[in-house]
Amino acid sequence: MEITVTAIKADIGSIGGHLKPSQALLAQVETTIAKAGRGLIVDHFIGHTGDDVAILMTHKRGTKSEDVHRLAWDAFQTGTEVAKKQGLYGAGQDLLKDAFSGNVRGLGPAVAEITFEERANEPFLLFTADKTEPGAYNLPLYLAFADPMYNAGLILSPAVGAGFSFTVMDVACTEDDRIVELSTPEETYSLAALLRDNGRFVVESIHSRSDGGQAVACSTTRLRNIAGKYVGKDDPIMLIRTQKNFPAAGEILAPYEIGHLVAGFMRGSHTGPLMPVTAGTGVSFFDGPPIVSCLAFSVHEGTLTEPVDAFDQPYWDWVRNRIAQKAHDIRAQGFSGAAMLPYTDLEYSGIKEIMEKLEKRFRIRP
Ligand code: F6R
Ligand code: MG
Ligand code: MG
Repeated sequence: MEITVTAIKADIGSIGGHLKPSQALLAQVETTIAKAGRGLIVDHFIGHTGDDVAILMTHKRGTKSEDVHRLAWDAFQTGTEVAKKQGLYGAGQDLLKDAFSGNVRGLGPAVAEITFEERANEPFLLFTADKTEPGAYNLPLYLAFADPMYNAGLILSPAVGAGFSFTVMDVACTEDDRIVELSTPEETYSLAALLRDNGRFVVESIHSRSDGGQAVACSTTRLRNIAGKYVGKDDPIMLIRTQKNFPAAGEILAPYEIGHLVAGFMRGSHTGPLMPVTAGTGVSFFDGPPIVSCLAFSVHEGTLTEPVDAFDQPYWDWVRNRIAQKAHDIRAQGFSGAAMLPYTDLEYSGIKEIMEKLEKRFRIRP
C-alpha cells in the first residue's frame, strides 16, 4: 500500500516570548485537523518543540497535495486566532502570506514529506528543531548515513553498505530549487565539502542505493527569502524511515550526542550547541540553546502508533548535561568572535546600522 507521511511545522505564537505555544493553541490545531481532516487524511499527530507546532499526517494523496497542505494551513490559521485572543507573542509569525495558494512551501511553514510503499513493518522518526536552521541536520545525517564510525550497518549490513544518494540544495539560490545529487561512499569527500557549510547547502533528501527507497525528507525553507526580511530562524522539520536497508533508529540518533555548534540561539544570530531534548520542551537560556526532539512511530496502512520519545532515556540526560556546559562555555564570550554569527548572517539590522554610522567617522591617519 502506498502511503504519504507529511510533516508541517510553524511558529504561530507562544507564551512569554518565543518560548512555547499555549495548550489552547495546540488544542485548536488538533481540533481543526481532526474535524476538517475527516475523509482526507488517515491519521495525524500534533507535537511541539520550542515555539513551533508540528502537524504530522498520513494520507494517500501523495506529496504536495493541495488538500492536505490546505488542511495544515487552515489549522495554523485557526491556531493563530487563538494565539491572538490569548495575546501570545508572534501570533501567526510564520504564516507569511495572507492566502493559501496550492502548497504551503513558500508560504512560511516548513514541510517534509515522503511517499512510499509501506513495508510490512514500517518505523520512522519525526525530528523537529527550534532556534536553529535546516543545515543543523547536515552533520548528523552525514554521520548516520555515510560514516561507519556512527553507522555500524555500513560495514555489517550489505544492504546498508550499498550506500546512499544525497540530494543537497543550495538554499542561497532564491529563484529556483538549485540541487545536486551525490552518492556515498564514492563521493563522500565532495559531500563533506558541501555539508560543512550549513547556512548554504542543506540535505533535502536521502535515498537508499540498495533499493532506491527514500529514507529522509528535510525541510529547506528560508523564511527570510520568502518574506524579504528577518521573521525568525527557519526551524527545520525532518522525517527519517529506519531499519533494514536504512540505518537503524539508534544509528540515526547517535550523532546527536555531539551537541555540534549550529547557527541560531538568541535572535537567530549566535552559535550554540544543538541539544537533544524530550518532545514538548521549550527554550529558556538565551532563547535557547538550539534544541532538537525526535518522536519515533510505526505505521500500518496509514494508522500511526503512539509516539515514543527517542531522547527520553537516561543516556540523553548525561548528554544534555555535557551540552549545557558547552552552551555555557560559548556564551561566556558573549558577542566575541565565533559566539556571534558573521556579519552576513546576522538576523537583525542593529550592527549594520552601527557600522553605517561609524563608517563616516573612520579616517586614514596621515
Ligand atoms: C530566535 C528568536 C528569538 C527572538 C528574540 C527577540 O529565533 O525567535 O530569540 O529573536 O526573542 O524577539 P523580538 O525581536 O520578536 O522581540
Ligand atoms: Mg519563533
Ligand atoms: Mg521556532
